[in-house]
Amino acid sequence: MESSTRAVPIQEVVEAVGHLIDSQVMERIFDTVVEFGGRFEVERFEIGKTNSEPSYLRLKVEAPTTEQMKQMLAQLLGLGCTPVDSGDVELRTVERDKCAPEDFYSTTNHRTLVRLNGEWLEVKNQRMDAMIVIANGEAYCRRLRDLRAGDQVVVGMRGIRVIPEPKERDRLAFAFMSNGISSERQVETAVRQTAALVRQAREAGQKVVVVAGPVVVHTGGAPSLARLIREGWVQVLLAGNALGVHDIEAALLGTSLGVRQADGRQEEHGHRNHMRAINAIYHAGSIAKAVESGTLKSGVMYECVKAGIPFVLAGSLRDDGPLPDTITDMNEAQDAYAEQLRGAGLVLCLGSMLHSIAVGNMLPSWVKIVCVDINPAVATKVSDRGTGQAVGVVTDVGLFLDLLARTLGNGGRA
Ligand SMILES: NC(=O)c1ccc[n+]([C@@H]2O[C@H](COP(=O)([O-])OP(=O)(O)OC[C@H]3O[C@@H](n4cnc5c(N)ncnc54)[C@H](O)[C@@H]3O)[C@@H](O)[C@H]2O)c1
Repeated sequence: MESSTRAVPIQEVVEAVGHLIDSQVMERIFDTVVEFGGRFEVERFEIGKTNSEPSYLRLKVEAPTTEQMKQMLAQLLGLGCTPVDSGDVELRTVERDKCAPEDFYSTTNHRTLVRLNGEWLEVKNQRMDAMIVIANGEAYCRRLRDLRAGDQVVVGMRGIRVIPEPKERDRLAFAFMSNGISSERQVETAVRQTAALVRQAREAGQKVVVVAGPVVVHTGGAPSLARLIREGWVQVLLAGNALGVHDIEAALLGTSLGVRQADGRQEEHGHRNHMRAINAIYHAGSIAKAVESGTLKSGVMYECVKAGIPFVLAGSLRDDGPLPDTITDMNEAQDAYAEQLRGAGLVLCLGSMLHSIAVGNMLPSWVKIVCVDINPAVATKVSDRGTGQAVGVVTDVGLFLDLLARTLGNGGRA
């Protein structure tokens, strides 16, 4: 006779719609169930018959305990599975500012819908690691620090539908990037692909955002980035203090970190140069004022001011100065980045691990990211942090920018 104390397996029926096979989502769904000690039974599966038609999966899942079922469902939600008898989302009222109820739902960067009064609503301002707040009949992603007492926050896992981005077939052209070996020829291919993405974004009226580290200047890539800005291919620049400092040092004194740009030799007392650059901007009051007064006449920052495109320089513990334009309050810097990323169609991350990962965390999964770094681990790191849409180009960023500026040529404003 069976023991009456034996745990009854917990059952759920979930369904998923999308490119389940070619995006390898189905395999991950099955693996997840097994990983959490569960069992699955496919109740229905309809395969999409063309490359654009989605597939449909209805799956019965079992877990040995309620806790395991909860953990399994949390993972399955992120893969696009929704419980069939979903019902409406469960809401709870926030009692104190910045304090979420224990069982808050934590977002992914994928398109998310919540069911409210029987209707599926798309969540706005999608990003990862946020809560979902319902206000005035709309659903929004909100960071923990922005929660306010009285906010209605989504808890649990009912009434939530996540739609993972399908793998785009044209991204397969970037496959070489993950193997970490890139010959000149392959870099040219990556540049051509990137140029096509830039053009596509501009034609769709979307912003191209550049996220750049100081290595852009050290590798001689600044004139090419300046040209891209001047010719209208870039709508926003996001960076740290160092990009601004070394770009201005190069423009005013012809060196970056004291190394002469003309011949690559260390200038005598050149280590003073980046401090002289910061000092010059303090004398002017700001980067824009240095341009206005004629002190700053070239470079990336100069072109941003001239083109009237917004730039954000975020501070860090490593900063010298910092420049008067650098935002040293980290929450403020994050807010400024997030604000400028709204409406972005394409983000080019150029030689900055810190800022690339930070930006990846703020973006929804449908915004394309090209991450250029000499270290193959950086693109992998960005992807591993949940920014799966990022494609990596493993190359010297100076060379990449030179080729990109020449490939795109004039016409960004056309
Ligand atoms: N003087 C200063 O004020 C100063 C100086 C340096 C950095 N910082 C600040 O420190 C923070 C981190 O700096 P970071 O973004 O440079 O560091 P990071 O380590 O986050 O990123 C540097 C990236 O550049 C890559 N890289 C190196 N050589 C390359 C090349 N030739 N081509 C392509 N990629 C290459 C590295 O692999 C690395 O991923 C930033 O906020 C920055 O502003 C300040």
